[in-house]
Amino acid sequence: MNTARIEIIQGDITKSEVDAIVNAANTSLLGGGGVDGAIHMAAGSALLAECRTLGGCKTGEAKITRGYRLPAKFVIHTPGPRYKDGNHNEAELLASCYRNCLKLAVENHCATVDFPSISTGVYSFPLNDAAKIAVRTLAEELEHCPNIKRVRMVCFDQKTMKAYETALEALKAEE
Ligand code: APR
Repeated sequence: MNTARIEIIQGDITKSEVDAIVNAANTSLLGGGGVDGAIHMAAGSALLAECRTLGGCKTGEAKITRGYRLPAKFVIHTPGPRYKDGNHNEAELLASCYRNCLKLAVENHCATVDFPSISTGVYSFPLNDAAKIAVRTLAEELEHCPNIKRVRMVCFDQKTMKAYETALEALKAEE
């Protein structure tokens, strides 16, 4: 496991000056509210035009586009699981979002990647559980991604940031 390259910050991911930002999308990839809406707004209509060519994306998988008017070079779109009751493979699907985004980041030679808190908004994934899954998956996967210099969780509010900080601290204590 490797937590050294994971950082937790509070901020607006559309401002991230990194190689790739991750978008908590839906399976249509045609935009929505929340961070999806903010990213499309900031990137401009060319992002939607490219998304239209992708044919959607399955929950837990990821697809990459350019960043257009965003400061980030790429946007990696991943539909997180919509939380039901925890018995519909939600945890594994959420983990695969983080895994597949890192895989695409490596394939596209991204050294810095920013993630939002996938599925904890409209998709109602319990925040503390999602934070634990996110940091553990990132720490495990980063072992195999030597070329990724830094991954940040960009939390939109204080409550979310605290949840990810707590999850990361607990993981560090395990190392
Ligand atoms: N920067 C960083 N994080 C943000 C931003 C932003 N500009 N805007 C919102 N967020 C945060 C939310 O506060 C939440 O913590 O992103 C997290 C994920 O929430 P949602 O955007 O609602 O995403 P999600 O829960 O995965 O639901 C996805 O919502 O917007 C639609 O099209 C999207 O159908 C999809 C669904």
